[in-house]
Amino acid sequence: MSTDTLTKPADRGLPTRVLTLASGSAGSGKSTLAGALAEQAAAHGRTVCVIGLDRQRDVSRLLGYDDPDADENQLTLIDVVDGLGTLDQALVPGRHSKTKEPIPNLWLVLESDRLDSLSLKLAGVTAREMWLQRLLPQLIGRFDIILLDCPGNLDLGTQGALIAATEIVGCTKSQEKEARGLTALEDKIADLHKSFGVMGMRDGLDWIVIGEGVTGISQGKVYFDIERQVREAYGDLVVQPTIRDDVKVPESYSASLPVTLYNPKTEAAIAYVKVGKAMKLYD
Ligand SMILES: Nc1ncnc2c1ncn2[C@@H]1O[C@H](COP(=O)(O)OP(=O)(O)OP(=O)(O)O)[C@@H](O)[C@H]1O
Ligand SMILES: [Mg+2]
Repeated sequence: MSTDTLTKPADRGLPTRVLTLASGSAGSGKSTLAGALAEQAAAHGRTVCVIGLDRQRDVSRLLGYDDPDADENQLTLIDVVDGLGTLDQALVPGRHSKTKEPIPNLWLVLESDRLDSLSLKLAGVTAREMWLQRLLPQLIGRFDIILLDCPGNLDLGTQGALIAATEIVGCTKSQEKEARGLTALEDKIADLHKSFGVMGMRDGLDWIVIGEGVTGISQGKVYFDIERQVREAYGDLVVQPTIRDDVKVPESYSASLPVTLYNPKTEAAIAYVKVGKAMKLYD
């Protein structure tokens, strides 16, 4: 384990991209995408920080930390909101969940099951939707990429990440529920933009990733049609390729590894690598 791997990145004046992965619907592939893009961007030499905002703690688990709440000395995001420490102090290296070997260039701020108390903690705070925007400056300039993995709702956690984003990534599957989640996300962005546009908030989606598509009409015309409708409605915003339904994804999920680490040769892993490239996260 080299010291380099464990030295927190200094401010190098990098033009940090803050990508918020969100959806109005749960289970739309956000955490799978966050894990895969983070792992790949780091493997391509980018300095990456992942901040999960979900009490389910999926992306923390995929990037090496099964139970961030088990260690009471470990600062997590909600502790930073509580003022118990800074985001910098909360940074931990991403690691391989089985071997615990650090993943070079990859850092995390861990999630906690106490994240559901966010609204309560911020009650009475002026412009509380800006909670994450107020914390992030400590990390800007130190990372090429910050990925914010939102929970499957549009509550205060997600709202903070939408306001803090330099790019908003809408995640969906080719199914009715998840596609409707995109519309709900757009409505929320438009609503927040009325108040926070003057602060530089994005005014719409920058990317859409279809995270579990069907391969052909034989797998279900309805699903196939929904994917077509999403592409028609959003055009170039929809990243190529669609990630197809692949059993290796739930398998990698159970193994607590990004699918790109679990089995780089599987179809989904190859597609995620291309998605990251299409989003210009690496060459
Ligand atoms: N391409 C795929 N093929 C098969 N299963 C997939 C694929 N992508 C995601 N899944 C499965 O869908 C489920 C939801 O994925 P994931 O947790 O990434 O979504 P999410 O949007 O983060 O969910 P939540 O809203 O709960 O945070 C997981 O069980 C995952 O394994
Ligand atoms: Mg998730």
